[in-house]
Amino acid sequence: MNYKDFYSKSIQFPKEFWSEQAQQLKWFENPTTILSKDYNDYPLWFADGELNICYLAIDKHIEDGFGDQIAMIFDSPVTQTVKKYTYNEVKSEVSKLAGGLLSLGLKTGNTAIIYMPMIPQAAFAMLACARIGVTHSVVFGGFAPHELAIRIDDCKPKAIITASSGIEIDRVIAYKPMVDEAIALAEHKPKKVVVFNRKLGARVPFKKYDVDYDALVYGSEETDCVSLKSTHPLYILYTSGTTGKPKGIVRDTGGYATALKFSMQYIYGVNEGEVFWAASDVGWVVGHSFIVYGPLINRNTTIIFEGKPIKTPDASTFWRVIAEHKVNVMFTAPTAIRAIKKEDPNGEFIKKHDLSSLKTQFLAGERCDIATLEWYQQHIPIPAIDHWWQTESGWPMISNMMGVEYLPIKPGSAGKAVSGYDIRIFNENGDELSPNEEGYVVIKLPLPPGTLLDLWNDNERFKSGYLNKFPGYYFSGDGGYKDEDDYIFITGRVDDVINVAGHRLSTAEMEEIVASHHAVAECAVIGINDELKGQIPLALVVTKSGEAIEHFQLEHEVVQLVRAQIGAVASLRNVIIIQRLPKTRSGKILRKLLRSIVDGENFQIPSTIDDVAIIDEVKEDFQKYKIGSFK
Ligand code: COA
Ligand code: AMP
Repeated sequence: MNYKDFYSKSIQFPKEFWSEQAQQLKWFENPTTILSKDYNDYPLWFADGELNICYLAIDKHIEDGFGDQIAMIFDSPVTQTVKKYTYNEVKSEVSKLAGGLLSLGLKTGNTAIIYMPMIPQAAFAMLACARIGVTHSVVFGGFAPHELAIRIDDCKPKAIITASSGIEIDRVIAYKPMVDEAIALAEHKPKKVVVFNRKLGARVPFKKYDVDYDALVYGSEETDCVSLKSTHPLYILYTSGTTGKPKGIVRDTGGYATALKFSMQYIYGVNEGEVFWAASDVGWVVGHSFIVYGPLINRNTTIIFEGKPIKTPDASTFWRVIAEHKVNVMFTAPTAIRAIKKEDPNGEFIKKHDLSSLKTQFLAGERCDIATLEWYQQHIPIPAIDHWWQTESGWPMISNMMGVEYLPIKPGSAGKAVSGYDIRIFNENGDELSPNEEGYVVIKLPLPPGTLLDLWNDNERFKSGYLNKFPGYYFSGDGGYKDEDDYIFITGRVDDVINVAGHRLSTAEMEEIVASHHAVAECAVIGINDELKGQIPLALVVTKSGEAIEHFQLEHEVVQLVRAQIGAVASLRNVIIIQRLPKTRSGKILRKLLRSIVDGENFQIPSTIDDVAIIDEVKEDFQKYKIGSFK
């Protein structure tokens, strides 16, 4: 097969192309309407088809005779556990949990929040919800109660499924008190909280709404999959936007299942029965698509890894997992490789493990710097594939399609557009730019199956954020350029979203919290370059006149505020006091200018700046705190 023809077919004949791909799935009702439009004139895929994604992920393989194949391997260096589950075992657990959820009063059309560490029960909970048509919303365990409360109030879950604790390198994180605190903070009150007790010594306060996970599973009957419309919302996944309020990305069922089967086969090039490992977390889109649903739909063995690339116990962990479980294809974030490279620059740990099973390494979540790619290739000479996508798309949009044709790699580029994505580079006026000109990365509608359906409870924000800027095109929020060979280079976000160690965070949300400190008159939070995490947030604060607070005290208090409200994952460590913030004449803070100054990049002084003298003042401030390129 050749990429060019395969890709062209998907763009020229999308209905035929995706109808063929949908036939790889077992539908309860085959779709006859392939592509239609919703009330927004936004494309819908397979509207009259019916299916169940839990059935495709588990039951179908058992019916085909693969019940004894290992479906999941739980590898947890932090608890020194390795546990394997066959498809039969996963079915038994998931279908009983689904029965248990029904007995608690949950039914098709309800929502449930899952707030769990990286343990198999998190995947079981997702699959159990999908089995009975309950729309799940997984909240990353690193988020604080306040963040959880925001999501509770937005998606109004009937139940929350959680665990007693998670483990972060050197400490046990008690989840249950955080859930209780979030429920106390939220206006909406879920009826039940299902708690999986890991018995790791964490405090598990009991509340009237609590239900024990084990008792629920073992006391319930196995329940069958319900038949759901293709457009049924499988999940809501909150992601950071440009305001303090996260956006609830809504995912459909049939388009998503089609796209995931397609991705496993044609992008990741992984065969049924092989071992696939995405070292991420179920709280992110990577976890949804490529720890849980994608590999299971493709009848792979997926790995649920509870650990980090380093310190659990050291920088050999990834290689140990690959060798021990004979991983065929792996996915991680470049930041993980950078962390390993820092600890083991000469790749000594790599030499000690048999990595012969590994065919391909995929990297995504942030821009992959060339040094990291080259280090990887030098030590592990297999294709290392940078690929680009977002929570919104749910699956890769730019990649080398390893199951179609392995194209030469151009370091710094995530490759060419994936089938179904007609990617263009526009200027501010919506004119298409020539090769090598940098602009906005947009995608011509219709997007292929599996991408976002809407924003939960906020269709206006969906339209204004993604569709209205360039009518007829989806606006990705990223900047980039295409070269003369159609390779696309992503240069970074064009908005105030930052990417910290592969985690997407909103600076606007951090600003709201920083501004709430009593000594702060005004502030800006910007993402600055960081060798390990790609970007880290930096808070710039102008203190109220007459405030005598010391810098170290302000920094400590602001950092604690952000940790308490968003979570440690925000990684805000630096707060500096500056004399004034550069602004436009209309009062808008010039964040991009601040970023360029601190990162030592070339910049043009914006013609709209209120007072040019402020640039030197800001440089003095950065110099004083030895921040960024002023170190
Ligand atoms: N629950 C509770 N706390 C969490 C958490 C969770 N699930 N995940 C992270 N945190 C905390 C960490 O303990 C840390 O707290 P600290 O400031 O008290 O030390 C903070 O959030 C930042 O965590 P993290 O971003 O993981 O940084 P780190 O310094 O501990 O580790 C890396 C650095 C590079 C090893 C790590 O970021 C990493 O593995 N990155 C890869 C990320 C990834 O795979 N992303 C997937 C997107 S595809
Ligand atoms: P998330 O929605 O959390 O997956 O974050 C998506 C954002 O991460 C994108 O909009 C990009 O800004 C960034 N991103 C993801 N993958 C890449 C990549 N391969 N290269 C550059 N940026 C990336």
